[in-house]
Amino acid sequence: MRKNEEKIKIIRSSLALQKNSKKMLAQGKSIGLVPTMGALHKGHVSLIKKSVKDNDITIVSIFVNPVQFGANEDFAKYPRRLLADAKLCGEAGASIVFAPQPNDMYPFPLQTFVHNPALESLYCGAYRPGHFAGVLSVVAKLFNIAAPSKAYFGEKDFQQLHLIRKMACDLNFPVKIIGAKTIREKNGLAMSSRNEYLSLEERVAAGSIYAGFLAAKKLHGQGVVSVAKLKSVVKEIIERASGKVQYVEIVNKNDLMPVRAKVLKKAVVLVACHFGKTRLIDHVEL
Ligand code: PAF
Repeated sequence: MRKNEEKIKIIRSSLALQKNSKKMLAQGKSIGLVPTMGALHKGHVSLIKKSVKDNDITIVSIFVNPVQFGANEDFAKYPRRLLADAKLCGEAGASIVFAPQPNDMYPFPLQTFVHNPALESLYCGAYRPGHFAGVLSVVAKLFNIAAPSKAYFGEKDFQQLHLIRKMACDLNFPVKIIGAKTIREKNGLAMSSRNEYLSLEERVAAGSIYAGFLAAKKLHGQGVVSVAKLKSVVKEIIERASGKVQYVEIVNKNDLMPVRAKVLKKAVVLVACHFGKTRLIDHVEL
């Protein structure tokens, strides 16, 4: 057993974590925060390890945030396995798992939300109304509770990461936002807690998202800049594998605005699609 594994501490109250962070900061310790909803996988572990390397204390929050789920979404069935997750956190070197109950985070219904009206209704936001306001609001709360100087998020949720960076900058949170590369299965499927919902067949078929990305990248590398062409290649490959595409968009890497006709600057392909009942998102830089 490694040193930190013995020391992993589970804190369930936001007030207790806030006090603990205050104490750590007074002792001159730096705090890294890895916000998660649990069901941890290799992608999360890579974020935790990055934080452990950079900071004296790493806090992993595990909270399935009700406020970011729509009425017909998977809040109730989202996988929850705190003890196994806490063990993984300890093995990765984290110091604290913060695992509050909803009534600790939201003792009263939340009335004050963080919004980004320009971006919260685009792409995933168009299909998940209220989702990004729920994400930004809980991340703002986590920053205020855990007091990190660095916070770590997966690049897989590209729109989410962009919105969190913008929030931290616009609202002067003294937190450096660090994004980490998407970790993929052998067939290219981006690791996600929701992959657990996929049947074996769906998991194989979902590798088509990455195959679509590779095809678009290849075409772009050969000089194809037509947004319509690049989008249709990705869509066709996913649909051929029985995926139901919700959207394929090509956006500017820096401001997330849609690229209308030709890809001339740094751009990213964003995809949301379903395999069976499972909604997956992914992105690639062209
Ligand atoms: O990406 C997630 O797991 C969640 O959206 C986050 C950032 C932990 C907020 O609940």
